[in-house]
Amino acid sequence: MHKYLHFDSIHSTNTYLKEHYKELSDGTVVYADHQTQGKGRLGRVWNDDSKSLVFSILLTENLDANRVSQLPLVAGACMAKTLEGYNLAPQVKWPNDVLLNGRKACGILVEAVSDPDLKAVIIGVGLNLNDESFAPEIKDKAISLHQVTGKTYEKEEVLHLYMGCFDNLYQDYKDNNAQGSIDIINDHFYLKDKEVYLNYYGEDLHAKVLGITQEGKLIIKSEKGEEEIDAGEVTLEQNYGK
Ligand code: BTN
Repeated sequence: MHKYLHFDSIHSTNTYLKEHYKELSDGTVVYADHQTQGKGRLGRVWNDDSKSLVFSILLTENLDANRVSQLPLVAGACMAKTLEGYNLAPQVKWPNDVLLNGRKACGILVEAVSDPDLKAVIIGVGLNLNDESFAPEIKDKAISLHQVTGKTYEKEEVLHLYMGCFDNLYQDYKDNNAQGSIDIINDHFYLKDKEVYLNYYGEDLHAKVLGITQEGKLIIKSEKGEEEIDAGEVTLEQNYGK
């Protein structure tokens, strides 16, 4: 069973769990109507206008430091399944953005807390739910469920559907090396066979995407040959420089 903590407004649900993980139980979910300091990947800011669903899941028990890199896949696969439950057609862009109509509907930020051993993992999820518009700088890249269907979604309902899926796929992660999540990602893999530019530790690498590994690495083929990439930012060749 999950314990749910709700805030009208909070700095960041991920930061809250980082600050309080010692006194909260494994599986605690924190969600908020608004974040004032929402965090994105690669040190970016995650802004919300109170219309999106923002939440974080705390994991503290039976953690495996060697397999934290699979958890973003589990989180992304759960979102793909959740959105399919609403008759949407999600795609997953490595490492874990979930897209609708080629634009980002959901971002995921997984953070580990070490002291120095791994003490907690926090899975933060931001889903554009009822947003009617986005800031000019992201409006061509972002999309909400409402923009796709014209419907209004209930945050708690979506959250509970997501957590139902998470319970199944997290169990599969523990029992079955996350094979269920990998299969879902492969079935919804936005980048498969696409020509991309990969910003990898500051270098822009032109490559073709071949797939993902069991550990969640991106398999690419560039002029250097085949490589497995564990971090970075991918831009489709057609969008490069835009
Ligand atoms: C990304 O795509 O860059 C990841 C965005 C993750 C945003 C979520 S919103 C809930 C949780 N709290 C945060 O501060 N960030 C994550």
